[in-house]
Amino acid sequence: METRAELAELVAQVAEHLRYRRELGAESIGERPRAEVASPPLNMQDKPAAVAATLTSTRLESTETLDDIRRDLGDCQRCKLWKTRTNLVFGEGNPQAALMFVGEAPGADEDASGRPFVGRAGQLLTKMIEAIGMRRDEVYIANIVKSRPPENRPPEKDEIEACSPFILRQIATIHPRLIVTLGNPATQEILKTKTGISRLRGEFQDYPHLPDIKVLPTFHPAYLLRSPDKKREAWEDLKRVRAFLDEPRASLG
Ligand code: URA
Repeated sequence: METRAELAELVAQVAEHLRYRRELGAESIGERPRAEVASPPLNMQDKPAAVAATLTSTRLESTETLDDIRRDLGDCQRCKLWKTRTNLVFGEGNPQAALMFVGEAPGADEDASGRPFVGRAGQLLTKMIEAIGMRRDEVYIANIVKSRPPENRPPEKDEIEACSPFILRQIATIHPRLIVTLGNPATQEILKTKTGISRLRGEFQDYPHLPDIKVLPTFHPAYLLRSPDKKREAWEDLKRVRAFLDEPRASLG
């Protein structure tokens, strides 16, 4: 027999699940989202405990490619940033990467080139990737917001909301083992939390939408350029990334 608190938790989980389906492109409950549910559909007449079991075992398999997502993004005007951007910055790297880095939004160099993390912060990110024995083209790099905010201001709530379905779809398609979120906005958006980076950094978290993906928040490289004394903690995080990737996948279903 479920308690009221358990029932409330289940209702919240169902609501979150439906919101995620909508973000992935399903307009109605019956419609399959672009990244579709591979496990049995929810039966709302099931006992709540069974609903919970279905939700936790649900694995969302993407049926689209990165090219499909890029095409859908088009010459995006879903928020006001299109008016001041030069190039949209979709993301780049290995479409089957085990490791994905998610940043905040393009800066001036990225806006000029159309590529993520190519300015000073990007050069530091490249060194961080190489420090764990990987090449930049082995991982996938993207941002939660695809157009540069003017004067590099932080992206605003409506801009993140308009853009976030695209990073969620990129994640569902790539299906990495681990997402490293860089800085506060990316961490809070990917984990759907209000907790700040200084509390979350260096601790593996579950990706809320796909049970077999982990998230490791760390400092943004632009912050590390401003606060080099934080590089030691970032290095500890990178060692955690390396150790995670070196673990066999056997425990994953
Ligand atoms: N900072 C980001 O968050 N993303 C980039 O692509 C460049 C700088």
